[in-house]
Amino acid sequence: PYIQKADSVLALMTLEEKIGQLNLPAAGDFTTGQASSSNIAEKIKAGKVGGLFNIKTVQKIRDVQQVAVEESRLGIPLLFGMDVIHGYETIFPIPLGLSCTWDMDLIKKSAQLAAKEASADGINWTFSPMTDISREPRWGRVSEGSGEDPYLGAQIAKAMVKGYQGNDLSLNNTLMACVKHFALYGAPEAGRDYNTVDMSRQRMYNEYFPPYKAAVDAGVGTVMTAFNEVEGIPASANKWLMTDLLRDEWGFDGFVVTDYTAINEMTAHGIGDLKTVSAKALKAGVDMDMVGEGFLTTLKSSLEEGSITEAQINEACRRILVAKFKLGLFEDPYRYCDIERSETEIFNTENRQISREIAAQSFVLMKNEGRVLPLEKTGTIALIGPMADNAENMTGTWSVAGRFKESISLKQGIQNAVGNKVKIIEARGANVVADSLLESRVSVFGKPTYRDNRSEEELIKEAVEAAKGADVIVAAMGESAEMSGESSSRSTIELPANQRRLLKALAKTGKPIVMVLFTGRPLAINWEADNIPSILNVWFGGSEAGDAIADVLFGKVNPSGKLTMTFPQNTGQIPIYYNHKNTGRPLPEGQWFQKFRSNYLDVSNEPLFPFGYGLSYTEFEYGNLKLSTDQLNGDQTLTASISLSNTGKYDGKEVVQLYVRDLVGSMTRPVKELKGFQKIFLKAGETKEVSFELSQEDLKFYNHSLDFVFEPGEFEIMIGTNSSEVSTQKVNWED
Ligand code: IFM
Repeated sequence: PYIQKADSVLALMTLEEKIGQLNLPAAGDFTTGQASSSNIAEKIKAGKVGGLFNIKTVQKIRDVQQVAVEESRLGIPLLFGMDVIHGYETIFPIPLGLSCTWDMDLIKKSAQLAAKEASADGINWTFSPMTDISREPRWGRVSEGSGEDPYLGAQIAKAMVKGYQGNDLSLNNTLMACVKHFALYGAPEAGRDYNTVDMSRQRMYNEYFPPYKAAVDAGVGTVMTAFNEVEGIPASANKWLMTDLLRDEWGFDGFVVTDYTAINEMTAHGIGDLKTVSAKALKAGVDMDMVGEGFLTTLKSSLEEGSITEAQINEACRRILVAKFKLGLFEDPYRYCDIERSETEIFNTENRQISREIAAQSFVLMKNEGRVLPLEKTGTIALIGPMADNAENMTGTWSVAGRFKESISLKQGIQNAVGNKVKIIEARGANVVADSLLESRVSVFGKPTYRDNRSEEELIKEAVEAAKGADVIVAAMGESAEMSGESSSRSTIELPANQRRLLKALAKTGKPIVMVLFTGRPLAINWEADNIPSILNVWFGGSEAGDAIADVLFGKVNPSGKLTMTFPQNTGQIPIYYNHKNTGRPLPEGQWFQKFRSNYLDVSNEPLFPFGYGLSYTEFEYGNLKLSTDQLNGDQTLTASISLSNTGKYDGKEVVQLYVRDLVGSMTRPVKELKGFQKIFLKAGETKEVSFELSQEDLKFYNHSLDFVFEPGEFEIMIGTNSSEVSTQKVNWED
């Protein structure tokens, strides 16, 4: 029915109006790319705009919609997009942090609330979820993804799409989602944003595509192209990706939008001038052009010259009109412009409370030697470090609509938790980075880092004095919000050297230290892991981060997050990921160096912290792994179970992880692949049996011909607390 409706509108449109629907300018209320669009109101009146983004407030959106509906010839309503990535005004943890909850209901809920808030403010389309798998912590945008694993990434992609879109896109509290960046944006060479990508199709299908496909299977409304090339053709002109795979193989029926000026950038990629690349994009299956106006300014003459057809323009326009029908915009263009909702449903107490709860679930306890944590609410705390008193940075990157200044800083959170029971001595200790030029690059988008111009020695001296007078040091260290995110790649991922020098000085005081680590990517914190007794990784927890961190520091919440990206020992180990291949010369387990084996002279092959890793204030003990059988045929299912006991003193949650290994294949297979997980709550002293079911379907993979097949033979089944610590049993599974 939507197609018929769209066709009835299409029949009334001039060629210029059809091309106009393919145009997506940026309003410029905030910056998410380099160019900005001009004369937008005039273009809307002339029917040259299909949607608008980077515009904020319900009143403004209503006014602009009114121009489209009342002053353009056909009155076609506009789409209003925004990067609602991890919350709208109420910000949730950065997506990498969210993924560490391993809790699909919570993740879905965060998307639902984001949709509720954004749609109350006039927005009907979000450029999320970003489902780019990445093994590249140098790449700043790992903060915006769900880590390195295709299975977990696919579950999260589905939860996000369902959360945003609900069951009915036309309800006014849902958003149309946009899965991005199709494809492979998370695999740039050397981790440099926008850089070249090249990989085999087998790797694409098995390791990088599953989350995009899961979003498509979940009914995602739109897909965004990636900036990078895929097999030598930029994604935005790649017909194999945008049509053969996405539409013909996967059955995607929404529309494809480019990333910001991605069509124009294909000239720099070296595949033609603006007219050529615009025609290539349309023919590849791209429907909407974000910001660059290549479609708007060249498609008519390409049509006259015969390099594209009117049917191709109609197809793209039809898909965009269908989306507008699905959103209910033709019925009521102001459906998402309810001023009353915008006053009550955004950044309210309830949403902020949920954000706090979700944030506490995303933190990963990396180390807790001597049980420094949880802290007592007595004595004196020295609160030291550049991230201790910085509300604006709590929301992390990609939080364009966030109310940064109203976020809860760590200092505020600790004060809220302890009242006057604890004395707090503060000292800055260090700047985020020593180099002021670098600092100016990471202190952007209204997220200042509050540089202190005293010398490094003076800052450290003051901090050491503060530490001496305290019972415990809470060191708020790491990256500032914009050290990760778009165009924030780093060539080394250690803790900034000046912060490490501060920590070394603090460690010499002999006082117990809790390092509260802020970061948007895995960091090579090997010195810290060796020398600091307690490390709580809090990513960027969102609007309520400070209260959520205090909830965990003082034991109100027992941490249960688990890493979804491997932490390397140093930058040179990158890419390091748990589901690697074995190679022909693997190193025997537990060893470091052997000549003529696949290893390094100067560092072992082990990660600093493996995928799936995270501690708790309590202890979990795993029993023996039991399989229902070790010999299966055909469609039988295998049950793998283990008993899990909470042997510590606190109630707590544990993410039990199931991995498999296909021991012999027609192609080489990873040494481990996640195939299931369960987040189990156990009271102190409680034991539960945890079971997983596996079928042949779970063991399938894309073979060399890209057929999705089950290959009979021996498999290892593993269950454990993280990807390195597992119990293993073998099964033989015949056809
Ligand atoms: O949605 C984003 C994308 O992820 C990166 N470039 C800009 C787009 C729109 O803001």
